[in-house]
Amino acid sequence: MVRVIGHRGAAGLEPENTLRSIKKANDLGVDQVEIDVRTTRGGHLIVIHDETVDRTTNGHGYVKELTLRELRSLDAGKGEHMPTLEEALRFTQGRLILQIELKVKEATEPVVHLVESLNAEKEVVITSFMHDLLGRVHELNTNLRTGALFFDVQGDVCQRALDVHSKAIHVYYRNVKPKLVEEAHRRGLKIQVWNPDDAEEMMRMIGLSVDGIGTNRPDILLNLLKSMGMR
Ligand code: G3P
Ligand code: CA
Repeated sequence: MVRVIGHRGAAGLEPENTLRSIKKANDLGVDQVEIDVRTTRGGHLIVIHDETVDRTTNGHGYVKELTLRELRSLDAGKGEHMPTLEEALRFTQGRLILQIELKVKEATEPVVHLVESLNAEKEVVITSFMHDLLGRVHELNTNLRTGALFFDVQGDVCQRALDVHSKAIHVYYRNVKPKLVEEAHRRGLKIQVWNPDDAEEMMRMIGLSVDGIGTNRPDILLNLLKSMGMR
């Protein structure tokens, strides 16, 4: 079965990385939901993609220079607050898998400790473009699953994932070729793609037999899979 992953919740339908967006993805029936995590001034874990709040909220400034209280006072779209990672995880636990992308090194240990404190090891996947952080996650807790993010496919990406004990490679969809899918599977890795948002691109990914497809429009992907008898 191809897994359906809502990117930043269901970012094509609701304000990205908000609880509203995560809930929308859940209501649509995704298997997994992806969010981005950073740290505030003071070290709290907050869900936001960019290093500043400027694009996605009505505020200004660097996330790492703002306190949790300051961040929470901002409008992240449709009156939503930026969620803490704990809020997001408390919602997804028991419902769907939470895919947590580490955007900053400082988030690594607090993320592992939070997941452990909620006994959610089996209900998360931790990802990053900074693969050394995934190695650190494995050192801290070997029960945690990780996925190594790639934009380009240059060199031996499978080996780079295996070196940090990741169970999957997550690759920008336009750079995925049949050979890479075959190789990942042969070497015991899952392959997930990010983030086709139209049906034609999604069809190509389904045809490549990837294991999971992340998208800002999980509604389109789920309808497509249903029409193909794959849901
Ligand atoms: O899941 C991968 C994808 O989220 C990586 O890109 O920039 O959306 O965090 P970005
Ligand atoms: Ca992300």
